[in-house]
Amino acid sequence: MCWIFAYNWKGNSIPLLIDWLRNLEYRGYDSAWVFWVNTSWKFYLEKSIWKVSNLASKVDHSNSKNTIYTNWIAHTRWATHGKVTLENTHPHTSNNDRFYIVHNGIIENYVELKEELSKKYSFYSETDSEVIAKLVDDLYDWDIKNTLERLIKKLIWAYAIVLIDKEHPDTMVWAKLGSPMIVWLWKDGVFLSSDINAINNVADEFTILEDNETVIVENGKYNVYSLWEIINKQTEKIADDFEIADKWDFETFTEKEIHEVPNVLINALKGRINFENKTITNETLEELNTYDIDSIEIIASGSSYFAGVVWWGWFKELAGIKTEIKISSEFLYEKFLPSTSTLYIFISQSGETADVRESLKMVQQKWCLTFWIVNVVWSTIARMADMWLYSHSWIEVWVASTKNIVWQLAVLLLIAISMWNKRDLQNFEAKHLIEKIWELPNLFKEQLKNKEHYKSLAKKYSKYDNFFYLWRNLMYGTAAECSLKLKELSYLHAECYSTWELKHWPLALITPDFPCIAINPKWKLRDKTISNIKEIWARNWTILWVITQGDTLIDIYDDIIEIPDSHELLNPFLPLIPLWIFSVEIAKELGKDIDKPQNLAKSVTVE
Ligand code: F6R
Repeated sequence: MCWIFAYNWKGNSIPLLIDWLRNLEYRGYDSAWVFWVNTSWKFYLEKSIWKVSNLASKVDHSNSKNTIYTNWIAHTRWATHGKVTLENTHPHTSNNDRFYIVHNGIIENYVELKEELSKKYSFYSETDSEVIAKLVDDLYDWDIKNTLERLIKKLIWAYAIVLIDKEHPDTMVWAKLGSPMIVWLWKDGVFLSSDINAINNVADEFTILEDNETVIVENGKYNVYSLWEIINKQTEKIADDFEIADKWDFETFTEKEIHEVPNVLINALKGRINFENKTITNETLEELNTYDIDSIEIIASGSSYFAGVVWWGWFKELAGIKTEIKISSEFLYEKFLPSTSTLYIFISQSGETADVRESLKMVQQKWCLTFWIVNVVWSTIARMADMWLYSHSWIEVWVASTKNIVWQLAVLLLIAISMWNKRDLQNFEAKHLIEKIWELPNLFKEQLKNKEHYKSLAKKYSKYDNFFYLWRNLMYGTAAECSLKLKELSYLHAECYSTWELKHWPLALITPDFPCIAINPKWKLRDKTISNIKEIWARNWTILWVITQGDTLIDIYDDIIEIPDSHELLNPFLPLIPLWIFSVEIAKELGKDIDKPQNLAKSVTVE
């Protein structure tokens, strides 16, 4: 997604901007630019499409120490309105080349605004953002603060905007609604970023801007305004363990993050379970149990949604609480029937996903009970709900979500056990399950040692263009997540179906070139599923079984991946590592960029 980094500072120059753009390449983008203007009216702009490396090769890298305050801005664009062209790349300017704006977000009423402004101004780009530059020019009344106030009244969000008036090159103006924005002082400059991960080693503390707040920056100082009054904002300290993204010795960040899974799980459970007496010891979960809840709705998107699907399966199977799972973008626009006895759970790794954030706002406005599960501390969602659990799974950098799902599942499982405990889960059953959860990190470590097996399967299966991922009941979320990962990383086609559904139509697609990954660990529906898969086998389909270690009942297959024998409720965890590595290796065989899948971005801050 788009990302803005800006500062007003005497020091340094372009190399710092380029370094920061590189640090945040993981977010996904398709063009980038750097810009500066100083108080002597000197001005520099360089743009480039596709990679930051293209931009880096064009810019002047001399690292001069300035004596005057200069406004520096870097931006990556992830195309929403208009193709990936230099014209559509920011900053956008007014016709008189006086006002420069940078924008993250989407201006939903840009068509109407453009129509009106076209009577007076000419447009050069296809973007929604360009209207902001024209509008600033149109509204300008010699006072930039007033102009900004009138500007934001006209925009139907969402935005994080940086505005520069070249006639006042000592000043920079920022505004935000919806899109995240943080500000901090460092050395003798003022810095702004639209991504919390950008602050890593250049800040000790920072301030988070709220919606409708604006900032005026001048000569190394800044004021935050709310409703046009200067306000005092609280600063947050950077945590000691704030992590800088590092891929260690791994070829890709995605692989490094998959290898972090055992430790992520330990971290998600630590302090929340007492492993000596096998009980859950978490104040938030205890508090949750004091509410009278008769139903649950889970709201998320992408892989986080599939983690929710697994949980939905767990609850349906065991808890006797009516549970629904909703894709956030749909939930937001369906008719909402608020219920005070429903718990609304929002799941998001980034804590910034726009439709999750907006769904949460909508539910809160109706005074319903909300709970979030988030990874990024200080993210927008993490500052909103009534109750929460952080994952503590460290920074997840590159686009494809992996380790994040494991902690989400772990936390969701803790909620489930704690709620079942309150209802009818027998103590000994809970203790047995907790014992088995604690074995998971070691089981994951063993799976990671089998990488060569998954890799050799990937070599063989990379020749196919289409895949079926087959599941029953509890394995739905896992199968859907694993098929998502194959599609996302290798751009191959994968369908995900219940094995029982096959006879209703998917069998029509049957050919030996459409391999079928059948996830069927030992549990109560295993035998029925075997019969379904035999129907496929009889028609010469290629079958890769994912089965419980040593399951001798399964006698027909082309290939197998064995997963450890554990508690059957924990089965959804166990195909993840093998099938993620399988997808990564297929993508490598096909020469894809694992860390930066085409067209995708991390942290989807626009609807
Ligand atoms: C897939 C993936 C995405 C995210 C989705 C939600 O590998 O990463 O599908 O899961 O964009 O993101 P969060 O969890 O940050 O709300």
